[in-house]
Amino acid sequence: MSFKKEPVTLKIILIGDSGVGKSSVMNRYVNHRFTNMYRATIGTDFLSKTVTIDKDTVTLQIWDTAGSERFQSLGPLLYREAHCCMLVFDVTSKASFSALDVWRKEFLFQAEPQDPADFPFIVVGNKTDLSDREVSRGKALQWCEEIGAEYFEGSAKEDLDVEKPFLRAALSGLRQV
Ligand code: GTP
Repeated sequence: MSFKKEPVTLKIILIGDSGVGKSSVMNRYVNHRFTNMYRATIGTDFLSKTVTIDKDTVTLQIWDTAGSERFQSLGPLLYREAHCCMLVFDVTSKASFSALDVWRKEFLFQAEPQDPADFPFIVVGNKTDLSDREVSRGKALQWCEEIGAEYFEGSAKEDLDVEKPFLRAALSGLRQV
């Protein structure tokens, strides 16, 4: 006799400073689209995408948050029950990279995961297509090692390595189910 597995939905939250490209990364991954026009996210937005992992069908519910609302805390409602958190920065902005520490702490504070030390974070350096880079890959990797996160970098604009962090997030998220 075979049992049908319950479909799994994983909640993935994207956070990071305004303008780093959270909406762009999500749209590139889910809709294969990119625009140079900047439209600030108001509140939150989510998109779903279904992927197959080890023959299992997994629905990713990807939540895009507004970078400008960092301390206006939609907080607990939004962050709770997340399975993975993607911390996004812009490789041409040192400030957006430095801000990730606060974003991460704020997330842990609001989300209250069962085991904060083991909660999966994925760090994404976006806009690698630009030449005026301020944060090296080495520097980003070093911080990720310190906090036990995985690092990916790419470009939503050029469609470079956008898929990898989401697949990794799905795999890490599955461990939380
Ligand atoms: P908030 O909604 O304010 O939090 O911003 P966000 O992080 O969602 O940024 P968004 O995706 O709206 O992108 C901000 C700007 O950066 C837009 O003008 C995008 O076109 C641009 N952008 C996003 N990704 C890339 C990229 O990979 N390369 C380049 N060159 N520009 C990008």
